[in-house]
Amino acid sequence: MSKKIESHLTEDRVFKPSKEFSKKARISSMAQYKRMYQESIDKPGTFWAREAKELGWQKKWTKALEWKAPYAKWFVGGKINVCESCVDRHVREGRGNKAAIIWEGEPGENVTLTYRQLQREVCKFANVLLARGIKSKDRVLIYMPMVPEAAIAMLACARIGAVHSVVFGGFSAESISDRLEDCKAKAVITTDGGYRRGSIVPLKANVDEALKRYKDVETVIVHQRTGDKVTMKKGRDVYWHEEAAQVSAIHEPKGFDSEHPLFILYTSGSTGKPKGILHTSGGYLTGAYTTCKYIFDMQEDDVYWCTADVGWITGHSYIVYGPLANGVTQVMYEGAPNFPDFGRFWDIVEKYSVSIFYTAPTAIRAFIKAGDEFPDSRDLSSLRLLGTVGEPINPEAWMWYHEKIGGGRCPIVDTWWQTETGAIMISPLPGCTPTKPGTATLPFFGVDAAILDETGQECRADEGGKLVIRKPWPSMLRTIYGDKKRYRDTYWNDYDGMYTAGDGARTDKKGNFWIVGRLDDVLNVSGHRLGTAEVESALVSHKVVAEAAVVGRPHEIKGQGVVAFVTLKGNAKSSDALAKELRNHVGTVIGAIAKPDEIFFTPALPKTRSGKIMRRLLKELVETGSVSGNTTTLEDHEVIAALQKQVSGK
Ligand code: WTA
Repeated sequence: MSKKIESHLTEDRVFKPSKEFSKKARISSMAQYKRMYQESIDKPGTFWAREAKELGWQKKWTKALEWKAPYAKWFVGGKINVCESCVDRHVREGRGNKAAIIWEGEPGENVTLTYRQLQREVCKFANVLLARGIKSKDRVLIYMPMVPEAAIAMLACARIGAVHSVVFGGFSAESISDRLEDCKAKAVITTDGGYRRGSIVPLKANVDEALKRYKDVETVIVHQRTGDKVTMKKGRDVYWHEEAAQVSAIHEPKGFDSEHPLFILYTSGSTGKPKGILHTSGGYLTGAYTTCKYIFDMQEDDVYWCTADVGWITGHSYIVYGPLANGVTQVMYEGAPNFPDFGRFWDIVEKYSVSIFYTAPTAIRAFIKAGDEFPDSRDLSSLRLLGTVGEPINPEAWMWYHEKIGGGRCPIVDTWWQTETGAIMISPLPGCTPTKPGTATLPFFGVDAAILDETGQECRADEGGKLVIRKPWPSMLRTIYGDKKRYRDTYWNDYDGMYTAGDGARTDKKGNFWIVGRLDDVLNVSGHRLGTAEVESALVSHKVVAEAAVVGRPHEIKGQGVVAFVTLKGNAKSSDALAKELRNHVGTVIGAIAKPDEIFFTPALPKTRSGKIMRRLLKELVETGSVSGNTTTLEDHEVIAALQKQVSGK
């Protein structure tokens, strides 16, 4: 059995969907794609109005788009209740007894919620929120593991017009308090704990810690997941089940303005603190809905499974809002892919007959390493479509996914998008687009993507440049919460009226987009964005650290690993124990995902004459072991020579 698949430097393998797949697909020919794409670009109002109409509005809009760069308003004057659209509408349309969420806990138990049951739970929880004084536009922070209650909490917020901000359950107490501080949340929804790789993550304890710093939270609602004892502060902390027992299971959803804020989700940028990306209602839902419908080709009898966490944008758009807006049946899994072993995902696929499966390249690489016996010994014949997201997928991983998981018959949709874009932007359509390992292929409907050079000229085929979107799209971010200036500066400053994604890319002669990766100081670790500045400031917050520089290094499984260069204060001494302490410190400040794989202690960092740390040189050093790039602006060449010795000596 070979674990490696040969690598092809220039990718010439092309995979077309089978006739059988195309016949049943929503978009079944390139001609149909091109026709619809052209319409979506020439007449975006007409195109998107047709899609949006399917969502069930309480009041129709008067104007599809109002665009005053960089601010877009979609479906102006329309009123919609996002939760109604995702839940009640399906009960009304006869899907009440259809499974909405089939949930499996890490220890192995499972629960199925039909659309009717989901409606009941969401209504009750909306009434709980109202009873606790939560009002429209109040911010609610959600810090939960992958349990159905996480989706219920999000939907209940949407139902009453409250704005949720989900914080990934792997983040630390400090991350929670920073986000609470930024969005000024009034309530927190959490659980006692959650299961991860056989142990329990103490979520409520982290919330308690965060609330020592941020004191304006009036209510903490705790869902009992593990049954572990937690501290409950009188008057502030209440149990979900006790509150839910006291309220009605009926709640009339009111329509909110199409531009009503739906959620804030924090994501890393190249400088300073995480950015609170703000998404609103009508346009966002239209984007999530339409991409699910066409890219995942969702059909009435599909069983869909996205392995992301609700703490990331993928969990928002492709676990909660998109799939539920489509009325599909989906699987939700609480735990780790390798618990009790690397067969767990494939057991789940087999057990629930999953037909559409969406995961990340980092997971695929971990599966390749674990060995083929895990998928080989399971029946994966229910699968018909595979997807990937989060980072560029290397052709080896693509081929393995195609052959071992897809049995050679399932199209793969490599989907490029971002927290900011809200929904998938570049991706094959499974019933028509010829795919090639490593490219996200063509823009989705309404997406006017291009690659530009520094002067704003469009790059020629195979010439690398900056990826931009030239026209507004329904699910685009509306702003950075509380920071309009940063919104403009980050996304709209490079070219007039165009959105810059911060990714480098090129197109080939067929127009396929090949994403190269981030252009800014943002790492992509296991498909998750981490600002180098964030990790650096976490390191510097330790009492012995004077200065830190963080760069990414290619990592076999994680895509990128975190490498830190650290200078110490005064007479502090470097040691392996200190390196370990610093790693744990980063874990405490941000979360385990940000822990450096390696820390180099150094007497000085390479800087320019004006004092800027030259991360570019450090990056080259960790990637290649030496520095050959331009060092003319370097202040002290000795520093690099010394570091070179240190890095290559490791
Ligand atoms: C990267 C995740 C190549 C990219 C949905 C982007 C990808 C960042 C792909 C956004 C892909 C995501 N191919 N690169 N298919 N998907 N990326 O905000 O660098 O967590 O800018 O959103 O991930 O990460 P975010």
